[in-house]
Amino acid sequence: MELWYNLYGKTDRDENEVDMEFAVEKEDQVDSWQEAMLVYHAALKQINTRLEILNDEFQHVHRYNPIEHIKSRIKTSESIVKKLKRYGYESTIENMVKYINDIAGIRVICSFTSDIYRIADILRSQNDIRVISVKDYIRHPKESGYKSYHMLITVPVFLSDRIVDVKVEVQIRTVAMDFWASLEHKINYKFEGKAPEHIRMELVECAKMVSRLDDRMLALNEEVLHLSEESGGEPAKE
Ligand code: GTP
Ligand code: MG
Repeated sequence: MELWYNLYGKTDRDENEVDMEFAVEKEDQVDSWQEAMLVYHAALKQINTRLEILNDEFQHVHRYNPIEHIKSRIKTSESIVKKLKRYGYESTIENMVKYINDIAGIRVICSFTSDIYRIADILRSQNDIRVISVKDYIRHPKESGYKSYHMLITVPVFLSDRIVDVKVEVQIRTVAMDFWASLEHKINYKFEGKAPEHIRMELVECAKMVSRLDDRMLALNEEVLHLSEESGGEPAKE
């Protein structure tokens, strides 16, 4: 099961440990593995800090936090090996860097759907960030009912002798979408992806309820903002 954690939180495993299946017998390859992991960690820190700055600025200007919280994870070596196998590639560091796009993953949890697109647009507009691909599972939900906005981006990491553009998978979703996704993930993990039909149907129904809830909460918030603007009062605080 994937372990997502707050950036400076600790996991009980060490990502620098190399999986035995990985082709890193030689010492210089262990070194490249550790360097690769360091660079992915650095990329996560970069994106995390930029998002925190945006949130602080929003709080300052609009008295409002678009981001509820941020979680991140580095893919475990076992999952990397599994994915490379699935893609039909040998487990080498070169292949990992080239073909695995979600080694560094960051999950941004927002209050409202409108915040999701706002955050995505701001990230997109940062000069040194390159957007490789976007999957909008909000406008086009998955069959499971899954909703989220995914962006694969690269961010430059400045090392002592060079600059490396590092891929980061950014998943942006509302608190309600996140609640749904974590339960669905747990259920699928329990049933190894083969949950009984009635449970899958129930999840799809719940996903529809999540969408309606998100829409109503957004409308409610907009109405309150509008009313407080009219009365010249302070906008609603959390
Ligand atoms: P992966 O091999 O899972 O990385 O899929 P992919 O490369 O086709 O990318 P996709 O955008 O489909 O999914 C990337 C990530 O989104 C997954 O690793 C999950 O974290 C999340 N995700 C995608 N689909 C679902 C879903 O149906 N349910 C849940 N809970 N999460 C999902
Ligand atoms: Mg993935």
